[in-house]
Amino acid sequence: MGDSYLTSKISQCQKEIRLNQSAKSIWMTGLSGAGKTTLGLALEKELFRRNFFIQLLDGDDVRLGLNKDLAYSEEDRTENIRRIAEVNALFNHSGIITINCFISPTNAIRQLARTIIGSDKFIEVFVKAPLSLCEKRDVKGFYFKARQGLIKEFTGIDSPFEEPEHPDLILDTDTCTVAETLSQIMYFILPKVQYYPTI
Ligand code: ADX
Repeated sequence: MGDSYLTSKISQCQKEIRLNQSAKSIWMTGLSGAGKTTLGLALEKELFRRNFFIQLLDGDDVRLGLNKDLAYSEEDRTENIRRIAEVNALFNHSGIITINCFISPTNAIRQLARTIIGSDKFIEVFVKAPLSLCEKRDVKGFYFKARQGLIKEFTGIDSPFEEPEHPDLILDTDTCTVAETLSQIMYFILPKVQYYPTI
């Protein structure tokens, strides 16, 4: 975390106690159409129902505002994730759990996010679906356009996606339903976001 946040005299721990939770950054990575947003929304709803305080951050939203000056070159994707990771550090410092839905296509980009956020808070979730299935789903019609050459540098078509080497969790959206993947992630996340007093 950048030194600038050290100015605050209220610690992250004090804020976590206030919110009765442990701030974590749940980082969903995967191809466009793999199901990151669907799962992120379902997880947000379920955690909120259980009285957790969460902020959802999604690529499509962030690229309309904070990162609207960025495109999809490797350099711009790196800057996209760097800014998002700094935003995560701020939310975490406020005791808030974040759910992130970003393609974050390379190991280097995800490592950058992990370094900025801190390994102790960063939970890497690989939302896994084969390219052929994402392309078949083509929720936004982008794969069709990318195959026509109307969209350049599209992840999985003419821009790389590196599968995470050691994700904390893999959610297979090819073989599991949304309800199944939601219960898998809840089972994994709950003990990590619950606040346990250390007295
Ligand atoms: S990332 O690679 O920098 O992490 P991010 O998650 O923010 O990407 O944005 C991905 C979203 O942008 C996709 O879900 C899709 O809706 C849209 N998009 C538009 N152009 C592209 C492109 N060339 N490659 C990938 N996604 C794109």
